[in-house]
Amino acid sequence: MLNKNDILEIRKDFKFLESTNNYIYFDNGATTQKPKKVIDGVDNYYYNENGNPHRGAHHFAIKSTEVYEGAREKVAKFINSSSNEIIFLRNATEALNLIAYSWALNNLKEGDEILLSIMEHHSNLVNWQFVADKTKAKLVYLYLDDKMQITEEELNKKLSAKTKLFTITAASNVVGTMPDVKEFIKMAKKKNSGIITVIDGAQYVPHHTVDVKDLGCDFLAFSGHKMFSEMGIGVLYGKEELLNSMEPFMYGGEMIEYVYEDHSTFLKSPQRFEAGTVNVSGAKSLGDAIDYIEGIGSENIFKYEEELMKYAYDKMIELPYLEVYTTPVEKRSPVISFNFKEAHPHDVASILDNYNIAIRSGHHCAQPLHRYLGINFSCRASFSIYNTFDEVDYFLNHLEDVRRLMGIGS
Ligand SMILES: Cc1ncc(COP(=O)(O)O)c(C=O)c1O
Repeated sequence: MLNKNDILEIRKDFKFLESTNNYIYFDNGATTQKPKKVIDGVDNYYYNENGNPHRGAHHFAIKSTEVYEGAREKVAKFINSSSNEIIFLRNATEALNLIAYSWALNNLKEGDEILLSIMEHHSNLVNWQFVADKTKAKLVYLYLDDKMQITEEELNKKLSAKTKLFTITAASNVVGTMPDVKEFIKMAKKKNSGIITVIDGAQYVPHHTVDVKDLGCDFLAFSGHKMFSEMGIGVLYGKEELLNSMEPFMYGGEMIEYVYEDHSTFLKSPQRFEAGTVNVSGAKSLGDAIDYIEGIGSENIFKYEEELMKYAYDKMIELPYLEVYTTPVEKRSPVISFNFKEAHPHDVASILDNYNIAIRSGHHCAQPLHRYLGINFSCRASFSIYNTFDEVDYFLNHLEDVRRLMGIGS
């Protein structure tokens, strides 16, 4: 496992930590800080290489095309797909909407079922409500057991001949649950080989090696900004044949083949789904972020974050004034959601902020999950590779201060 010195070296890559005087940033599930290499890469692109890609014959049009398509190849290799299967979008939300608009609206009808879990982020839930409303397909939910897991029995009970789309997050942003998505996809395809499977990888891809061929999913969505890149760049992976059978999501420049007065023909994936001027610097920053992750090793990153989360989790579940909502099952994502039994999460987050600790408070875009847990809001600490055990100790000590300041009994 990475040791203390390794992490201290890694921390030097993140100027944010230095410029904020080592502010304790435990809101990595919302977005990570960016390594210098990624920020410098963006600067370098704009200082030396900027042009509008895929159009024009001059040096900078060509250079920006190389930068953009190079990033696509890097992402494709990162998740073991072909580059035609990688569509650059703004974020995971846009990727999940693309599937809703371009596949689901055209393929679902009354009597069909969309199977999803209660722990989905709104990005992978409200879009399916929209589809259900338009197509009259029915939403069917998978619920968590008392260990915050979705069991195979639950999946088998809810899968039916009517299920046409099955979607689930590979890692919950609230309860940390990491379902065995490979097995779940296998079970869904066994029930009905025509079921389309959609994996929300927003909280999973930043921490794990992903092989889409091995997973067997039809679609995978994730965001760059949660894995050290700029904001404004996200990825939709889709099986090539499926993507090319779908209607475009948006219409305009660069996604067309021929345009006549009354109709047009469209390019294949990925251009088919990337209308208009694209985000070259964002794609480049994601490519550089992937280099950064690979330089440390995805598995090394996760092992370290897992140890950090375990250290914090084991101490937090012993605190009598806290309720912890994260799954007790060891295989989990590095997020710990909790509440003080008698304090509002926003008060907790504000007090911790006074001690230079950033945590998230609110519903974390997962209102149905919070309602299912019988709460409205929670606090969430989420970890990344630059966080330390000392920071966790500091955080734990200041939970005591929150308790004292809020007048809560120990
Ligand atoms: C599980 C999950 N899915 C989807 C998203 C949406 O990501 P974005 O806001 O980058 O589109 C998030 C963001 O927090 C998330 O945690």
